[in-house]
Amino acid sequence: MMKNNNEKKYEELYKVASEIRKNAYAPYSKFKVGAALLSENGKIYTGVNIENASYGATICAERSAISKAITEGERSFEAIAVSASKNPAFPCGICRQVLAEFAPDIEIIVRNGKDLEAYSLEELLPYSFKLKEK
Ligand code: THU
Repeated sequence: MMKNNNEKKYEELYKVASEIRKNAYAPYSKFKVGAALLSENGKIYTGVNIENASYGATICAERSAISKAITEGERSFEAIAVSASKNPAFPCGICRQVLAEFAPDIEIIVRNGKDLEAYSLEELLPYSFKLKEK
């Protein structure tokens, strides 16, 4: 499923996601998630889930990472790795829509047993909402 030349790069990206997971703030669900977002410039932006006593105010790891990257001026992304308490962990619907805004061609990297798998956003969110075609 994964292109051979990307395997090493994505293993490293996944490792970053797994390491940052320790900083997740998940006292309510106890489900910790770490994300590592690779920009086209080759920089990695990490994110963790940040829960809230008002549950709906929770932000997922993927959106934490993208918020950081967009704030730093990044606009193009190659891949995002997601590591959670239980894997594979796919981005939720809201995060898929946020990724579609900035990175319609991004690859989503998840762990399935000892293998890494790469999915296109088009596979995970076909017919995503757009105000107009870019
Ligand atoms: N969560 C993420 O951080 N990313 C996902 O893609 C799915 C869910 C978080 C939100 C919440 O803090 C916890 O996982 C349980 O839903």
